[in-house]
Amino acid sequence: MSRLEGRVALVTGGLRGIGRAIAERLLADGARVMLADLADDAAEDIASLGPDAAYIRLDVTDEADWARAIDAIEQRFGRLDILVANAGIGGSAPVRDMSLVDWRKTMAVNLDGVFLATRYCCDLLARGGADWAGGAAIVNISSIMGLVALPGVSAYNASKGAVRLFTKATALEFAADKRPIRVNSVHPGFVETPLLVDTSTKEAIDFYTASTPVGRMAQPHEIAAVVSFLASDDASYMTGSELVVDGGYTAQ
Ligand SMILES: NC(=O)c1ccc[n+]([C@@H]2O[C@H](COP(=O)([O-])OP(=O)(O)OC[C@H]3O[C@@H](n4cnc5c(N)ncnc54)[C@H](O)[C@@H]3O)[C@@H](O)[C@H]2O)c1
Repeated sequence: MSRLEGRVALVTGGLRGIGRAIAERLLADGARVMLADLADDAAEDIASLGPDAAYIRLDVTDEADWARAIDAIEQRFGRLDILVANAGIGGSAPVRDMSLVDWRKTMAVNLDGVFLATRYCCDLLARGGADWAGGAAIVNISSIMGLVALPGVSAYNASKGAVRLFTKATALEFAADKRPIRVNSVHPGFVETPLLVDTSTKEAIDFYTASTPVGRMAQPHEIAAVVSFLASDDASYMTGSELVVDGGYTAQ
């Protein structure tokens, strides 16, 4: 039996990059998956993933979208066992040049989006989690930039650092309330995705490679494998943890 058979997952920011790789890996491991993203119509694309995949338009910063998404998941799949809060944006700037509007935009997607994901999914997850030895699983995608800083990306650093501690706080809260939901964060290093490649200069890409001990950027599937592990009963004793997947970057 595939290790995620019988489970239903929601992956935010699921249409491309790391989110897409996570959705594909969870499907391969036997889960049914609701991909959520900003495109109005991704029907053709989602059909290529097979009958266990579905799509909903969901802006993670929008409460009305969240209410609709929860209804859609209940209607289509009848349950929820795994939440991967992956949607995120880069786009930081030196602090002296940053407007409050830009600061809030980063916080809205990267931090409010994770809060709303937990807030809106936790009741459904608690019900689903009762069926599994390891409970339901929330996996929040933070970053190495939630652990260590770089100059020029303070908003991103702040948002991802906050996701790390929000993860631990909610893990403790659910454990104290005897709600069967484990909550963990994943901290990828530099990953070859549209977010990073489209917004980086050649010098920046060279820096990502040169500053990573293993000498290369990660591929999205290498992050997805760790997310699938955390979502499964193989990680049944893990909650409030942070898994770093960074080719050695933060070991330096
Ligand atoms: N690429 C990296 O090097 C890297 C490293 C560490 C962490 N991360 C994190 O991994 C996650 C995914 O990053 P990626 O590199 O795959 O990015 P990406 O830009 O390639 O993909 C992100 C997806 O999220 C969607 N999205 C953006 N805003 C959204 C919103 N408001 N609501 C719903 N969907 C939204 C986008 O449409 C896109 O499909 C992010 O949280 C990012 O911060 C990325």
